[in-house]
Formats: sequence, structure tokens, C-alpha cells
Amino acid sequence: MKEFAVRGPIFHTTANPAKDSNAWIFLDDGLMVVADGRIKQISPADECIRSIENAMPVYEYPECLICPGFVDTHIHYAQTRIIGSPAPGLLEWLENHTFPEELRFGDQDYASQVAVEFLDELLRNGTTSALAYPTVHADSCNLFFEESHRLGLRMLAGKVLMNCNAPVGLLDGEDFGMGDSERLIQKWHGNGRQSYAITLRFACTSTVEQMKICTELVNRYPEMLFHTHLSETLAEIKWVLSLYHEYQDYLAIYEGFGLVSEHSIFAHCIHLSESECERLADFGATASLCPTSNLFLGSGLAQPNLLAEHGIPISLGTDVGGGTSFSMLQTMQEMYKVARLGGENLDAFELFYLATLGGARALHIDEHVGSFDSGKEADFVVLDSGGSKLIQQKLERSKSIEELLFTYVILGSAQNVKETWSMGRRLYQRSSDSL
Ligand code: GUN
Ligand code: ZN
Repeated sequence: MKEFAVRGPIFHTTANPAKDSNAWIFLDDGLMVVADGRIKQISPADECIRSIENAMPVYEYPECLICPGFVDTHIHYAQTRIIGSPAPGLLEWLENHTFPEELRFGDQDYASQVAVEFLDELLRNGTTSALAYPTVHADSCNLFFEESHRLGLRMLAGKVLMNCNAPVGLLDGEDFGMGDSERLIQKWHGNGRQSYAITLRFACTSTVEQMKICTELVNRYPEMLFHTHLSETLAEIKWVLSLYHEYQDYLAIYEGFGLVSEHSIFAHCIHLSESECERLADFGATASLCPTSNLFLGSGLAQPNLLAEHGIPISLGTDVGGGTSFSMLQTMQEMYKVARLGGENLDAFELFYLATLGGARALHIDEHVGSFDSGKEADFVVLDSGGSKLIQQKLERSKSIEELLFTYVILGSAQNVKETWSMGRRLYQRSSDSL
């Protein structure tokens, strides 16, 4: 058995701190033992360091914070290279930047290069699991899973279903994407740490016939996630209701095709009506909130507490390339500010929960990752001041773990990710040159 331990300040959540204020654990000098890639035990270091020291390597992180790897619940790997492309709104951005870029993923070499870059970038930012959009091309999804599998990461993705209102090279053919989806599901769902998610771009780019194919897939694989966009901008809502005019609101379209359940995850959820909130909660569907994207594209301000008060589980996504950062620290930061603008408040415990265990729950992978329970896969990140004197002094004068976490939330970025570990393997180590 391959065993090692990491020692230092350790933090994780055990449930949602917004519901149970004691649902977190902090050990200011903790020891986490990892055996065969899984967490074996976590305890105060002084209780067990003597018995362990000579039995296995102990990696020491005294000035750091060890926490679960971040979980990004909505991101587009195929948009990595167009991050930060300006547009006056979502629909213009899709037409002018996104669709032209996604067309390139018909080329396998291009798709494969971007998949490698994307996963590198996730690790550099401390993200160990994500629910990712490739493109409509089956190969773009296959190559993503191949690279993720090679690295041993726990990832979810599914080829994008779309067959209208986009350039010809981005449209599914006569079988509406059924054949490609089936082949990818057979190859990848449950293969190592990879999971397939049935992925529809949004109702605007699918005909009724394709929506029905999507329903067929969801009915065939009810345990699989269904992933799409919902209620991101007012122009999008107007457009979708003009295409599907017999429906009372945006959610009703997905509901009408039987696509809403506790296995569905909807990105954005900004402009929902009271009734849509109640129905989402009744179905047990999850929202992925993407604040850096919503600010960048001017889509609107999500209201995390309002959604949570309705009983809708929430989580955080970067939505790169609409989103402007791969960093879940920066995503927490912007979520905090967006909530403030809506008169809401999120504390650092809840934000860390949303970026770790809350995200894992949203993706139904919390039996494997998201916290440091014994037996879970050892996906963790080591944070530090990143060479910033400003952050270092702020961390040093923190009087509580809450203050310390808040500093990472408000001032943190990729620079503060010292190391990223997945399944007990160190896959990223910041070089001293980058400081
Ligand atoms: N809605 C439909 N497609 C997209 C996309 O690629 N990005 C975002 N942010 N919203 C979408
Ligand atoms: Zn998106």
C-alpha cells in the first residue's frame, strides 16, 4: 500500500454551513494520511505524528491551507482560447466569438491541444473536478475524456446537442446526435473517474425533434446528469419564448420535455420568476451560478440566497470562456460581490462549501470527492500567500479561520495555489519563477 501524510492547517466542510453553522472542520496543525489515493485518516498532528513519522513520508505545509480540490460546475473547455472576448451581450458573443471558435473543434489535433491546455489551467487554479462542455463534435468530447483519464482526474462532460440556429458545422445530423451520444456513453460513463452528462446547449439551438431525442437519452440513463443553460439574459428568454411560444416560461420548455429532475443542472438561473423558482425546487434541480461570466457579458445579477431560500441547491461555475477566470477563488470573490449588490450576504464558510462539497453534491460525485471524509479520493489543494506581502500580512493577522478563508476568497487567485493533488498524486506545483 502506498501511504503518505500531509501536515499543516486543514479545512473542509461536512455539510452546508448556511444550514448548519457547525458543518466545517479546521485543524490548525492537522495531519491527513493518504493510502492508495484515498483519505485514510485526518487528525490533529500532535496526536499521531510520532507513530507516523517513521512509517511514511510526511509533506509539511506550515504556512498554508490544505482544503478539498475545487469543483467547477459549469465550464466550456472549447472556449479556453476565446476567454475575454468582448461583445455587447450573450447572443452577440456566441455569434461573433464562440461559434467560430467551436467550429475549429472539428479538427482533432486542435481539440486535443486545447483539452491539454484546459486541464493544465484547471490544475493551476486548484480545480480537480468540473462539469465541462466540449462542442457538438463527438471527437471533442472523446479527446477531453482521454486527457482527463490519462491524468486520472474526476471529470464530467457530454457532447453538445444542438441542431439549429448556429453555423452548419456545429449542427447535429439526421439522428439528432443520438448515435454519437450513445457511443460516448458506452465508452466513457463510469470508465475510471469519467462520467457522461447529457448536454444540451440550450433550447434556442435545438428543434423539437432534438429535444425529444434528449428526453429519450435522459429516460434511458436516469442516473446521468442533464446539463444545460437556463435564464441567463433577457434577450435569450425573449428569443426562446418566440421559438417555443406555447410554453408559459423558459423552465416550462425543459419541463415539457421531461428534462427537469434532481439530476438536472442549469447554468445561470438569473431571471427566474417566482413560479420557476418554486418548480425548480420541487424537482430538486440544481443551479450553477457563474458570476464572472454574468458580469463580463452584462447578463444580470444572480441571487444565491433567494434561490437557496426557495430550496434550490446552488453551486458555482466559472463558465469560461464567458467567464473571465478559471479560478474558483475569484469566482467566490465575484459571487460575494454579486450577492452584496442584490442586498444578500454570503460568508466565507458557505463560499468554500459551494466551491468544494456543494459543487460535488451538485454533480452527484460527493460520495467520492468534495470533503476529507475517510475513504474519499484524495483530491486536495494547498493554498498560500503566493508571494504577496499584502496577502501574507492579512493572513497572519487573521484572528479566526473565517477571517483567513475570507482573505483567500477576496484577494485570492491562481497565484495562491501552491500545489494541486488528485487521487493522492501531485499534478501541479507552482514554480518559484511564477512568484
Ligand atoms: N448559452 C448557450 N450557449 C452558451 C455558452 O456557450 N455560454 C454561455 N455563457 N451561455 C450560453
Ligand atoms: Zn455556459
